[in-house]
Amino acid sequence: MAKFLVQNGAPLYGVVQISGAKNAVLPEMASAILTKEKCKISDVPNLIDVKVMKEILVSLGGSINQIEENVLEINMEELSKHEASYEHTSKMRASFLLMGPLLARAGYAKVYMPGGCTIGERPIGLHLKGFEALGAEIIAKENYIEATAPENGLKGAAIYLDFPSVGATENIMMAAVLANGTTYIENAAQEPEIVDLANFMNKMGAKIKGAGTDTIKIEGVKSLHGAAHNVIPDRIETATFMLAAAITRGEVMIKNVVPDHVKPITAKLRECGVTVEITEEGLYVNAKERKLIATDLKTLPYPGFPTDIQSPFMSFLTTVEGSSTVIETVFENRFMHVAELNRMGANIKTEGNRAIVQGGKKLEGSSVIATDLRAGAAMVLAGLVASGTTEVSQIYHVERGYEKFVEKFRALGANILRIED
Ligand code: EPZ
Repeated sequence: MAKFLVQNGAPLYGVVQISGAKNAVLPEMASAILTKEKCKISDVPNLIDVKVMKEILVSLGGSINQIEENVLEINMEELSKHEASYEHTSKMRASFLLMGPLLARAGYAKVYMPGGCTIGERPIGLHLKGFEALGAEIIAKENYIEATAPENGLKGAAIYLDFPSVGATENIMMAAVLANGTTYIENAAQEPEIVDLANFMNKMGAKIKGAGTDTIKIEGVKSLHGAAHNVIPDRIETATFMLAAAITRGEVMIKNVVPDHVKPITAKLRECGVTVEITEEGLYVNAKERKLIATDLKTLPYPGFPTDIQSPFMSFLTTVEGSSTVIETVFENRFMHVAELNRMGANIKTEGNRAIVQGGKKLEGSSVIATDLRAGAAMVLAGLVASGTTEVSQIYHVERGYEKFVEKFRALGANILRIED
């Protein structure tokens, strides 16, 4: 098993380039199923999750040409299978995003249930509610789901999402683009990844309006054609490096950023006394020699504070004098990193979905685990400022979602090594 060894070091300094967004490219790769023509996607991050999605598309009969390191050409003309295997779905929850495009293109989809994970039960009821509203028949077995469209195809419908689920919004949007008639998704998720997926499908000839608002209108069309698309920068990776600069009291220029996508983190870091400036070159973050103050935060669906940055921000708050309250409203169990931070000497108490951080005490290096993708990054951030060495294990989580993670941190002066056990 691979591990990260992280040592206390100098404040981070320098320039880092953000990669394409994991949570945009995965649904966009799945949406290539909707056309028989070739799709070219650029700024694709080189991640384990992207590799799994490529394997799945090939297993369905597709072919993928890796034109350059970060450029894929996907050809789904030969769609010979309509089933995502257990082997793949168990590796990556996002495989469930194949259901919508398979249902739209082939009228049938069989996808194994995406397991829950450490951060929550991760139900899929809203996805299925949307497919049924479009006329699909759903058969839920103990470990897989089958969806079948009516003979004459899916039919547009008005669908209200009880929770603005990112995955459900994406899956329903992809199912509806080829349906007969118009579909409205109400209380839709508004994340930038939804907008990027809609932009890509509109380039393919879809008629989607309102992505990025709480109501998305999709007018069904007969077919989609191929298209080329550049994936948006990863706002969660951006926020991770903003916090790396803040926690080490460093000075970092972050390039290839959409400042609007990280507004909540910019606002919160400024509240704490960190300088964040939007410049021509990128996002400039400076926390050198600053007396920082504590702040409170509450995670919410976009445009609220992103749940994926809750744990990295908590690592930062353990280094700031004072008491901070962190409330997690999106996932029911996303405080697994608290015990790991407390092992490093942090003083965090949790009550339900609320964590109280008493910050300011120096952290001590320890052996900790990455309990989810973002908590893994949070442990590395803590290790950068803890005394001694911090050993982070179960780092496959981290490598699923961050391209060139170690290289980018080392280029900023971080003492981090990846070792095989
Ligand atoms: C996406 O997951 C992201 N993953 C997650 O990022 C992110 O944390 C999450 O959105 C929230 O922003 C990808 O895009 C691949 P949800 P998703 O459906 O779509 C409840 C990362 O680190 N819900 O918006 O699974 C659910 O229980 C990952 O990159 C239902 O109740 O998130 C949860 O409490 C982690 N019924 C809440 O919605 C449903 O049918 C948010 O889930 C679906 C979801």
